[in-house]
Amino acid sequence: MATKVNPRDYIPASVAPIRVDPPGTVTAMPSPNKMHHIHIYADQHYEEVVEFYCTLLNAEMVRERPNNVTFLTYDDFDHRIAIFKREGWSKRADKTLGVSHVAFAYDSLGELMHIYKTMKALGHTPHRALNHGNSTSFDYRDPDGNEVEIMMDNYAPLDNQAYKRHYQGTADFGSSADGDFDPEKMLALYEQGVPDSVLLDREEVKRLAAEGKL
Ligand SMILES: [Fe+2]
Repeated sequence: MATKVNPRDYIPASVAPIRVDPPGTVTAMPSPNKMHHIHIYADQHYEEVVEFYCTLLNAEMVRERPNNVTFLTYDDFDHRIAIFKREGWSKRADKTLGVSHVAFAYDSLGELMHIYKTMKALGHTPHRALNHGNSTSFDYRDPDGNEVEIMMDNYAPLDNQAYKRHYQGTADFGSSADGDFDPEKMLALYEQGVPDSVLLDREEVKRLAAEGKL
């Protein structure tokens, strides 16, 4: 006979905050230590939305209550995405103000290319692929049309910050759309062995796109 699991066995013996700040020791406005999770509401496409984020983020279901909420995680944290069932609610209209998209950061072009291939095989292709100068991104829409960005930084964080502060958007930088590229051509160049130092460089992307190669 299977041993019965007592759910209460999973309550840790004691709470374990990252740090304890006694009264009077927090004297300045704190900033978050990370972005923790997002909540998404879905109805008719609930199952597809869950599957989309499971695949896109290589996430697993931590807890599933399909009539209520499904929690997904892709690391040690208990949840990164919570998808709630909201029966009868309407989709967000086009040109609605508010949060536009969430962006998830990766470490390499190789990872982004693997995601591109995996999602394409399942019928999901990005509606935009762009070298922003500071970053390279692939913008997807989930089955309800919510935008989600898969991206990487092209430079180290503080270099990127300086790039954005002082260069991006200047007359020399040109227009944002100059960095648009064809993800299929990017995949081909990547698989031919064109180095990341070229494929992540906005000037090279512009040059290759002008030649019809990207
Ligand atoms: Fe973005």
